[in-house]
Amino acid sequence: MKRPVILDVDTGVDDSIALLLAMKLPQLNVKAVTTVSGNVHVDEVTESTKTVLGLVDHTAVRVGKGSSVSLRHTRFHAPEVHGSDGLGNVRKKYEQFKARIKTERAVPLILDVVRNNDTSVTIIATGPLTNIARAVQKDIRIMRRVKEIISMGGSFEYRGNTGPLAEFNYYVDPDAVDVVARAGIPLTIVPLNITETVPLHREEIVGWSRLSRTHGAEFIKDVTKFYMDYHKKTESFNGGYMHDPLAVAIAAVPGLVKRIKRLPLLIETEGTFTSGTTLTRDAKGSEKRAPVVSVITKIDRQRFWKIFRKTLFPLPD
Ligand code: RIB
Ligand code: CA
Repeated sequence: MKRPVILDVDTGVDDSIALLLAMKLPQLNVKAVTTVSGNVHVDEVTESTKTVLGLVDHTAVRVGKGSSVSLRHTRFHAPEVHGSDGLGNVRKKYEQFKARIKTERAVPLILDVVRNNDTSVTIIATGPLTNIARAVQKDIRIMRRVKEIISMGGSFEYRGNTGPLAEFNYYVDPDAVDVVARAGIPLTIVPLNITETVPLHREEIVGWSRLSRTHGAEFIKDVTKFYMDYHKKTESFNGGYMHDPLAVAIAAVPGLVKRIKRLPLLIETEGTFTSGTTLTRDAKGSEKRAPVVSVITKIDRQRFWKIFRKTLFPLPD
């Protein structure tokens, strides 16, 4: 039985790979893809998401465009990491494939799929949680039918990647994290301190795509060039973290998770310098009143890479 999922994405280079992975993994049934502002403006996210969907069989997938601003009506993007189009500035090369799918509105689409699917749906959120929070605010009763929200975000006892402490998705909309964590829906967090243990190196991609020679492999080689150049410049490694593909792989193969902890989630929403920071305790015992979430603390990296390569870079028969 395939796991019915909704992907909520801020495509994004790693989101685009996560989307391809989700569409190809036999364990998942992607019912809808909703877009949210994050890496780039939601208009760009939506165009790029539909371009990626055009590379695979997308007949059964609905697309919904979501929020252009956070719950607090702020905007924050990362074009220096993902390119101005969110696809490493290579979307124009693949635009011809763009899926001709009607663009619905994200929040009504999420609620419609959750309400009408005959089994409970999992939401894989690889961007800021704005759309999910808005869906909770609109109809918490329906949203409580969601089986699990798997969210790539946050950073626990580790560095941030947006400022010294905050992870990007939770920095962009910390209020949305708090709304979703308090909604009474099982929330599993795939944090930065785990996703930064799965860096993909340029030479791997080049070698794999040369052997695989599939459309998808060629796209991944193209789309990651800008993203990997960014890390070469800023972290002196020629590669890029597979944050969002890891979240998708965990939804498909829960056995990838080797250790998970139930922890109180404190999300900083007011800090001048620390907004978006995730903590599990503070000096005043605030954790006693905090929502408890599941935080992944260990994964099987070798098995992840095996699934990643086999699915996205299949060798010709
Ligand atoms: O911090 C990494 C996360 O923020 C990833 O999901 C990346 O795509 C950006 O959305
Ligand atoms: Ca993302």
